Amino acid sequence: MERKWWHGKTAYQIYPKSFCDANGDGIGDLRGVIQKLDYLRELGIGLVWLSPVYRSPLADQGYDISDYYGIDPRFGTMGDMEELIREAGRRGIGVVMDLVVNHCSDEHEWFQKACQDPDGKYGQYFYIRKHRDGEPLPCNWRSYFGGPVWSPLPGHNDRVYLHLFHRKQPDLNWENPEVRREIYKMINWWLDKGLAGFRIDAIINIKKALPFRDYPADRDDGLASADKMLFHAKGVLDFLNEMAEETFRKYGAFTVGEVFNEKPEELPLFIGDKGCFSTMFDFGETVLNQNPEGWHAQKPITAEQYKKACFESQRKTQDTGFLCNIIENHDEPRGVSRYLPEGACAGPHGVAAKKMLGGLNFMLRGLPFLYQGQEIGMENTHCGSIEEVDDVSAHGEYKAALAAGLSPAEAMEGVNRFSRDNARTPFQWDASDNAGFTTGTPWLPVNPNYKQINLAAQRNDPDSVWNFYRALTALRGNPAYQETVVYGETEPYLPERENLMAYFRRGAAQTLLVIGNFQDAGQEVPLPGAVKRVLINNLKEFPAQGGVLKAAPWQFAVLEMEA
Ligand code: GLC
Ligand code: CA
Repeated sequence: MERKWWHGKTAYQIYPKSFCDANGDGIGDLRGVIQKLDYLRELGIGLVWLSPVYRSPLADQGYDISDYYGIDPRFGTMGDMEELIREAGRRGIGVVMDLVVNHCSDEHEWFQKACQDPDGKYGQYFYIRKHRDGEPLPCNWRSYFGGPVWSPLPGHNDRVYLHLFHRKQPDLNWENPEVRREIYKMINWWLDKGLAGFRIDAIINIKKALPFRDYPADRDDGLASADKMLFHAKGVLDFLNEMAEETFRKYGAFTVGEVFNEKPEELPLFIGDKGCFSTMFDFGETVLNQNPEGWHAQKPITAEQYKKACFESQRKTQDTGFLCNIIENHDEPRGVSRYLPEGACAGPHGVAAKKMLGGLNFMLRGLPFLYQGQEIGMENTHCGSIEEVDDVSAHGEYKAALAAGLSPAEAMEGVNRFSRDNARTPFQWDASDNAGFTTGTPWLPVNPNYKQINLAAQRNDPDSVWNFYRALTALRGNPAYQETVVYGETEPYLPERENLMAYFRRGAAQTLLVIGNFQDAGQEVPLPGAVKRVLINNLKEFPAQGGVLKAAPWQFAVLEMEA
């Protein structure tokens, strides 16, 4: 495997709207991010991905872009963006923007023009089909946010257009070479500004299975989830390679794809040495227990499931490339509220449990990607009723739950477990009003637990979650261990032992053993040899004797083994 400049870094995702508000309007902004660059450096971050800050009506919080060349005034100016790139660069941090090109906003000029003249040039930028009331739609796919993927074309009651996501996110027609050229031009324009690269949104969806046709319904609404289409779509890699060739490769840019449902044999084509992306996210754990019925039907994830999914991803990428390891992002609940059993965070060993989960994920082979707030152990929030929920996908799921016969209270249980708002509440900087996020009224309420969970309280506490993450990033950056931590092979240790997740990282210079006691009770773990050094421990004690570790509840350690 070829070595790349970004392999040894630790990456961090910023959701700008909720990170830091510099001007008191309740919305996080680019000046807020600039103010926190030293913070990111202190945490050991080398790459930062910003969720979208382009001009947008924010129907899907910026994933609906109305001008790819402009910064939304709510986030700042182009000058701020350029300053951010420059200032981050001075601190050794590369800036990665979100590339959202499966769709744009219905307020983008292209779509406006398509509405004016669907038979003209811009009509070909989208998927527009003839349709009269009472006739069946061109196909029965259900949008990812609920409801049909077809909506009436504004101003034309004899036409509909395709949107796999929200109706304010019309899908761009990648089959049209002119659309692709426009997109590549825009990407290069940004890379010329000194961006380190892009996180590439929803990209697997750009290739549609054409001609449009129905698939067997998977719910009572008679629709079939849009991702069914992905199994039938052929040729996405042709588009992606063309894009890489016309843009990223010329710049040596870093790219991370948001790819679900790739076909196993395609993995090297995505992230191998000649792949179309640098890397992609490992969603192996994220998709566990997904249910076609929706959130309300999803079962909690067990430690065993989590472990197996991680190991499977490690196995399949070992010789191919790097995945990005995450426990959460802006589309998912907080990792500690999801992968730890209910009640664990609030329990007496909550801090240890959070560190264990974070440590197990961080030490896997690949690029660790922290999501803002993860480093202080932020948890899910709670909404009493659907009116309090901002997330568009949660509204769709709520409706689906009611349609399946659940009561509003039951439907809210699913929403509270999975709503994307869970990860989008403002960053908890300190215990002052609004957690120090804003001097105004935050666009989304702060999680009420901010008095207990905040950065200021954790900074000076050597046992805090935050200082634990700092130890992890420091180990990754330590020249004596970096080769092993970054490239060492992963080999599961005692994989059949229930509620134990342990693995070796084998490098040329040393072998590390990573151990997590994934339960709220003690467990005796035989050690495979003599321990040379305990590099990281989430607890004060390391009770090993006679080759056995008497691991305390949620104990986590990284051990350097005697050769
Ligand atoms: C991706 C984004 C998500 C967005 C969707 C549509 O999944 O991460 O936030 O809603 O794409 O752009
Ligand atoms: Ca602001």
